[in-house]
Amino acid sequence: MTLTNTPRRYGAVARAFHWTVALLILTAIGLGLVANGIALTDAASAARKATLFSWHKTLGITAFLLAVLRILWALTQARPVPLHPARRLETLAAEGVHWMLYVSMVAVPLTGWVHHAALDGFAPILWPFGQGLPFVPKSESVAQAAGFLHWAFTKLLIASVLLHIAGALKHALIDRDGTLSRMLTGHEAGGTAAHPRGPAFVAVALYAAALAGALVLNPAATGQAAQPPQAVAGDNWQVGQGSIAFRLRQMGAEVEGSFASWSAEITFDETPVEGRNGRVRVTIDMASVALGSVTDQATGAEFFDVGTHPTAVFEAGILPSGDGYVAEGTLTLRGVERPVTLPFTLTVEGDRATMAGEVTLDRRDFGIGAGYADEETVGFAVTVGVALVATRG
Ligand code: HEM
Ligand code: HEM
Repeated sequence: MTLTNTPRRYGAVARAFHWTVALLILTAIGLGLVANGIALTDAASAARKATLFSWHKTLGITAFLLAVLRILWALTQARPVPLHPARRLETLAAEGVHWMLYVSMVAVPLTGWVHHAALDGFAPILWPFGQGLPFVPKSESVAQAAGFLHWAFTKLLIASVLLHIAGALKHALIDRDGTLSRMLTGHEAGGTAAHPRGPAFVAVALYAAALAGALVLNPAATGQAAQPPQAVAGDNWQVGQGSIAFRLRQMGAEVEGSFASWSAEITFDETPVEGRNGRVRVTIDMASVALGSVTDQATGAEFFDVGTHPTAVFEAGILPSGDGYVAEGTLTLRGVERPVTLPFTLTVEGDRATMAGEVTLDRRDFGIGAGYADEETVGFAVTVGVALVATRG
């Protein structure tokens, strides 16, 4: 078996790369289209969708890594020449499609990967090396732009693959020449023609046009920036800035969410009266939740049910506890009231106070995700973190 190419033959390495990458890409296309088509109606459909997307991403990244190796290998090799150089248009079309496929092999999985890495959320990659990418920030707008490019590029890829397969079939069934067997068995075919240069430029220009078009049309560019935490009315304290975030395990990977809009009324005094330093009432606008790519599902009836229960309220007394404090009271979430104790630390410097606290809740206590009876898709424990800076006023 000959490993390397000549101008008339694909060597075994080039052929192995071609067919492995082709198989992975065709499978990734199938999984992407099927998974995208699954409507999220219940727990079972969400689990099915997440599993298919996890496989989609994992196979897609494998295809990407092999494609990079394939391209590096191709750079060291002769490219078998066109078989019918006299048929100029056909040769240009075939070569153009080959270049489109080379660009797609990298651009399609890379945009998908950036989309995934910019989000915490749905359908983790099935490997133990982490979900992020260096240089890719966690950002909704980066994710949205990359997701849109991924979608646009998959359309170019699918069109190229269809033309490519149609061409291969035409050669095998109509021309009955050596094109397909050259790639299947390493059979020698062709003369001494040269490769035209134009198709590579056309392919790159088409991709650049798709990139520019997608960036112009990208919904993120039309500006839906996240709202800053709402300025808050307090009793004797005003909250200047703060965050309410939460984290949980989804499909075995940790995901983080937050609420952009909430308000807090706080009465607090360093000297306790009847064992209490004050009280707090926090009202959260549940529709302002962000939870990576599953934000829409989080607001739905199965989870927060924002349509019926638009706000959550935590009302508590503030008591000293060890070196810090606890806010001990009631959380009303999704219409269910439960006692909750939030331990927190507080540093007061003059008229400025910084607090941070964390409490772990069980989503089942509030009927959240009742259809997800085990922890395989969505974990039971949800850790809520509150951090804020307030000024006395
Ligand atoms: C060879 C590689 C890949 C191919 C051929 C491919 C193809 C596709 C296709 C055809 C879709 C459906 C698009 C549609 O709605 O019509 C899709 C969606 C998607 N792919 Fe890929 N993909 C690849 C790699 C990846 C990778 C590596 C990731 C992430 C790590 C990824 C993440 C996604 C996501 C998140 C969606 C859904 C996008 C959305 O709903 O907005 N893909 N992909
Ligand atoms: C059933 C599917 C496929 C068939 C039957 C097929 C067949 C072929 C054949 C016969 C050639 C050789 C053309 C020639 O010698 O002029 C070829 C080359 C090529 N194929 Fe495919 N292919 C398939 C899928 C794919 C896919 C999914 C990709 C996606 C990346 C791909 C990428 C390429 C590239 C880039 C070349 C050019 C190699 C070079 O000369 O540098 N193929 N394919």
